[in-house]
Order: sequence, then C-alpha cells, then structure tokens
Amino acid sequence: MLAHDLEQLKAHVIHQRQLQNPGVLKPKHDSAKDLADIRRDLGDCRRCHLHTTRNKLVFGAGNANAELMFVGEAPGADEDLQGEPFVGRSGQLLSKIIAAIGKTREQVYIANIIKCRPPGNRNPEVHEIAICSPFLDRQIETIKPKVICALGTFAAQTMLNTDTSIGRLRGHAHPYKDYCLLVPTYHPAYLLRSPGKKKETWEDMQLIMQLLA
Ligand code: URA
Ligand code: URA
Repeated sequence: MLAHDLEQLKAHVIHQRQLQNPGVLKPKHDSAKDLADIRRDLGDCRRCHLHTTRNKLVFGAGNANAELMFVGEAPGADEDLQGEPFVGRSGQLLSKIIAAIGKTREQVYIANIIKCRPPGNRNPEVHEIAICSPFLDRQIETIKPKVICALGTFAAQTMLNTDTSIGRLRGHAHPYKDYCLLVPTYHPAYLLRSPGKKKETWEDMQLIMQLLA
C-alpha cells in the first residue's frame, strides 16, 4: 500500500472514532464485563444444529481492550475439545505470528466467525453465520479494536461481504465498521501447507504494525 494512502486511511479512521464517540480512544473499563454479558447471552447455545455435534463452544479469548483482533473461520477439532480458539497446529503458528509483531496472545483478542465446530471442518453454512455472527459483531463493538486481521479466505470474504480472492484482498487495509481497519491475510492452516506464502503474511503483519503505530 502507498504510504500516503495509508496515512489517509489512518486519519479517516481516527476521525470517525472521535466523531462516533469521543470516549472511544480512551481506555475503556467495562469491556470485560460486556464480553462476559455476551458470553452469558450465548449460554448453552442451541440456536443452530452445530450444538448437536460440538463438544465445547469457542467464544474467543484475549484482551477485552485489545487494539488488534484476529478473526478465524470456526473452531477445529482441538479448539472444540478445549473451548479455546486457535490452540491446534494453526494456533501454534498464529502464536508465532503474534510474537513476531511484538505482542502476546494476552494482548490481542482472538475469535472466529462462528463459535461451534462444523462437523469434519466443513465451511460454515449461510444460516449458521446468520445466527452466530451477531455475537461476533457484539464482541467487536465491545472491544472496538483499531485493526482486525481476518485469517483466511472465509473470514475475509465473510467480513468484507465479497467474493474477491484472499490473494487480492490481502496486502491492503479495508475500512470496516467506520471505526477500524480490516487487514486480511492467509489462514495459518494454509501457511502450514504453503510455507512459501509466509512472506506475504509477514508483509501484512508489517502493515498492521504501521496502522497501530
Ligand atoms: N481455525 C480457525 O479458523 N479457527 C480456530 O479457532 C482454529 C483453527
Ligand atoms: N485458501 C484458504 O482457504 N485460505 C487462505 O488463506 C488461502 C487459500
């Protein structure tokens, strides 16, 4: 991305954040409680049929005041057993990516588009997303991150409501919800299969660091 485009985008988002709520840029104190309320509202969720095959619902984890949020697709087998996002092989790579930008998993927030594992790791279905995504929206509204990194084709296309390929979506910051920027990158599971693409994800992480600076 060109440097002056980046500065313009950053200025736009900062302006929007101030317009929407002058308090947005100040430390927020009730976000942890608000997240706990969202978790309580989900309860022992049976809103879609994924509850019949899941072990544990995977709500999300991390800092309720995070300036950076990662959003994946859906829990996999390990996450479904542990109830935590990105704890399997992909999660280990995600932890390394987070460390590479000088952060810890405790400083960021990690969630998924849907909260229960689709059987056999199939893609989430349209009605599952429709039922589940309002809870992710509430998490994002509460945390109000400055930057969201969408991990992989599915999260990026769903959040940006587009069918443009991840290869074309990544490498750029996309305005999102008027108070933050969304940077798509490859899914860690894809990077495990195609390590040659790690260079591009590193470029995306550098973009994220510039946006947060
Ligand atoms: N893949 C995802 O998209 N999310 C997880 O939580 C784990 C693997
Ligand atoms: N295909 C995917 O599903 N995800 C990626 O990140 C890249 C290719």
